[in-house]
Amino acid sequence: MPAVVIVGTQWGDEGKGKIVDLLAPQADLIVRFQGGHNAGHTVVVGQEQYVLHLVPSGILHPGKIGVIGNGIVIDPAALLDEIDGLTARGIDLQGRLFISHRAHLIMPYHKAIDKESEKLKGARKIGTTGRGIGPAYADKMARVGLRVADLLDPDLFRQKLTGSLAEMNYLLGRLYSVKGFDLDVVCREYLGYAERLNAYIADTGDVLNDAIAAGRRVLFEGAQGTLLDVDHGTYPFVTSSSATAGGAATGSGVGPTRIDRVMGVAKAYSTRVGEGPFPTELSEEQGGGDLRARGQEFGATTGRPRRCGWFDAVVVRYAVRINGLSGLAITKLDVLDECSDIKICTSYECRGNRLATIPAVAEHYDECRPVYETMPGWKQSTVGITRYDDLPPNAKRYLERLSDIVGCPLDIVSTGSKRDQTIVMRRAFDA
Ligand code: IMP
Repeated sequence: MPAVVIVGTQWGDEGKGKIVDLLAPQADLIVRFQGGHNAGHTVVVGQEQYVLHLVPSGILHPGKIGVIGNGIVIDPAALLDEIDGLTARGIDLQGRLFISHRAHLIMPYHKAIDKESEKLKGARKIGTTGRGIGPAYADKMARVGLRVADLLDPDLFRQKLTGSLAEMNYLLGRLYSVKGFDLDVVCREYLGYAERLNAYIADTGDVLNDAIAAGRRVLFEGAQGTLLDVDHGTYPFVTSSSATAGGAATGSGVGPTRIDRVMGVAKAYSTRVGEGPFPTELSEEQGGGDLRARGQEFGATTGRPRRCGWFDAVVVRYAVRINGLSGLAITKLDVLDECSDIKICTSYECRGNRLATIPAVAEHYDECRPVYETMPGWKQSTVGITRYDDLPPNAKRYLERLSDIVGCPLDIVSTGSKRDQTIVMRRAFDA
């Protein structure tokens, strides 16, 4: 079992960082394949908390190799900050971190366009993280992006940047009425980053395929979640990358036949940051505020309060299909410990029809009302439980019901933020 993909099954923030950190000891290489520093993976090791944005969370384990694949968009300043931060805390990345030469660069104008475009959209805004993710992927697809490999050829980099800046400065000035960027300043800044990043740049497709051929184990660390995927999510309220399992292949250069298992991570309830449909959302009075407080639901990247609601089995069942999930990791079970009743959304009611899946049009999805089934809570602490049999009977019933409705077996149940607060039912890398 040399290659396993981890993906989010909801709107991101499912706790993938912890699950990746847990599985990393069984892997040799850990790869990020999509997104950028819009992601925030929180990992608690002993008394220390780490929030990683671009560097794969598996790197916290000594001797493991981290790979930033070609599908990532990189803000070099943010990446260097993260590398420096980890080095200062005693985690040396030299020889352990590889950055794809084909990954695209987030440029200063991408960040400016992200912010200005959100302002211009007004009520139609997406609620992005403001990190320049969408505009960087737009340039990639429009075939005008600058890539990591370009940084290694200063003359060519300047030439390409000259063309890009002419267009982007025009756009910024004419459409958004903001000041553009100076060629010399941006060129100097980015070539400076190149010097520092040079040691990490590689053909990561080769690194990964060689490793798999040698029988080494690879863990693919997805960011965001299925409903934020640009193709399969609640478009246009999505991120701009392929956050589903298929993205692991295109975003890393490893073919689908080399991937053996896909584990989906789902929170025991639902959360969402940013705008867009969320049928099971609970208002503050309905208990959304309580869930947020108990689950400490604030964005790891932007600090924004997350919208909270009941578990939506329609969403996770959809994720089981789209990703071809072989198993589920359910996180934050303990957050529900104090609930008297717990609801599960099993279908939607929309314009007099019962729906078992997600409408393609966000405006139609907004009209969907959740159809719930209610289960009794367990009203006792599950914090830190490590054996499935030690869970309260109602907690087991809840988990088994979730697994049953979404049609996927349980691999892991997480009962707290620390590494050892976990029930492992099936090891990801077992054959
Ligand atoms: P962008 O990725 O910054 O363009 O933001 C697009 C949408 O995806 C917004 O609703 C963000 O809140 C959401 N988003 C992006 N990254 C994450 C994440 O890591 N967790 C949860 N939501 C995210």
